[in-house]
Amino acid sequence: MPSIRRLLVVAIAILAPTIRAAESTSDMPDIEHGKATFNTMCSVCHSVQEKGGPVEGPNLLGLVGREAASQPDFAKYSPALKTSNFIWSVETLDRFLVNPMMMVPGTLMPMLISDDKTRADVIAYLATLKQ
Ligand code: HEC
Repeated sequence: MPSIRRLLVVAIAILAPTIRAAESTSDMPDIEHGKATFNTMCSVCHSVQEKGGPVEGPNLLGLVGREAASQPDFAKYSPALKTSNFIWSVETLDRFLVNPMMMVPGTLMPMLISDDKTRADVIAYLATLKQ
């Protein structure tokens, strides 16, 4: 007669792969993928270091929670972004990065990320960059 414990072990052994599969197909953002994408598509213009790095675009360290066009060291913001008057959050970044010119007509930010999953991954990465 198999003991209850043995039955439980068998049940867990059968269920475990199902649980793992459910985890990997969940839509949790992939921060590592976001970072790799950022390094390919964005880091040519944007620094995420405290000091140094490219200056074509504003430094994005500590972006989430800050007002748009408020990075004090960046003097080349467009009038459009300067007068846009919103706070960077997961939601506003999502709307901006899918097509910056749609959200802020006249912005000088030239890059968009049309793929929903990749965009969510990049935003999740940006949200980890605390000042
Ligand atoms: C060719 C240079 C260039 C590339 C590449 C680039 N950006 Fe930008 N980005 C800019 C410039 C210039 C601005 C300022 C826009 C303005 O003032 O209208 C900007 C602004 C921004 C802002 C607003 C920052 C603030 O302080 O309000 C965010 C967010 C941003 N970019 C994210 C990204 C992301 C994410 C990528 C990669 C997918 C990217 N950028 C790629 C040049 C670039």
